Amino acid sequence: MIHYYIITIVLCLCGVNNVQPKEVYNDWDILIFTQQWPATVCNEWVHHDPSHTCVMPKQVDTWSIHGIWPTKLGTRGPLFCNRTWLFNPEEIRPIEKSLINVWTNIEGGTEPYSLWAHEWSKHGTCAAVLESFNSEFKYFSKGLDFLKQYNMTHILSQSGIVPNDQKKYALIDVYNAVTNQLHVNPSIQCREGMTYLDEVRICVDKNLQLVNCDGISNHKIVDGVSIITNCHDYIYYPHFKIPPKRIYIQLYKLVSWLQWFSL
Ligand SMILES: *[C@@H]1O[C@H](CO)[C@@H](O)[C@H](O)[C@H]1NC(C)=O
Ligand SMILES: *[C@@H]1O[C@H](CO)[C@@H](O)[C@H](O)[C@H]1NC(C)=O
Repeated sequence: MIHYYIITIVLCLCGVNNVQPKEVYNDWDILIFTQQWPATVCNEWVHHDPSHTCVMPKQVDTWSIHGIWPTKLGTRGPLFCNRTWLFNPEEIRPIEKSLINVWTNIEGGTEPYSLWAHEWSKHGTCAAVLESFNSEFKYFSKGLDFLKQYNMTHILSQSGIVPNDQKKYALIDVYNAVTNQLHVNPSIQCREGMTYLDEVRICVDKNLQLVNCDGISNHKIVDGVSIITNCHDYIYYPHFKIPPKRIYIQLYKLVSWLQWFSL
């Protein structure tokens, strides 16, 4: 019984200490700039449901932006810092074409603007405490700038890492390709049995200077190097191939059209 009281008192005291102003909860340390590999994102989307289709970035086999994510070290988020600040398509109208090309909503058939609206509400409203991110237009423009500056297609190709359906790349080589160019540690994420390269994340501080992504989760040791990753040691970096189902649909359309034509 006494134990119970002591525990209760301790819990209460902690509870009191945890009551902090709301801004503290929304505080963060770094921004994670995440680029995604469209071929892997598409495969995952189609695996999830074979009726799914994909929308690809304008340039084939190039990395696409996923988002810019304010992050408190050792945690995820903060997220959804201002639920009343909704995504407004009018604000990004001047850069909409560029966003479609390189910040592509790969998951076809979803609502127009769904990726951008999601990234804005979940992450953008938290980034907005920085002057350089304090509007929707600035948040999305910064994504375009970052992609030019930290172009993963370019960075990986500098070390001879280019899409290839046959061979697997050593994770450590992908890691080294990024650190050789940027001199900071990235986070490398995989999907589909953790053998398909999915995302490369790099980190900047509040002055938008590159910093190591150390302090975000899931390190593992590969060849004596601590890498932030969920990938296996050897991974695919595949070309985009139209999922087979879509070829059947295309063929079916062609045959129907020919039949109609021959009537
Ligand atoms: C949330 O966003 C709205 C709309 O931009 C703004 O008027 C309001 O001040 C914001 N609230 C906070 C707490 O920043
Ligand atoms: C990224 O680099 C690739 C290869 O160098 C290039 O083709 C592409 O246009 C670049 N993308 C951007 C947004 O700069």
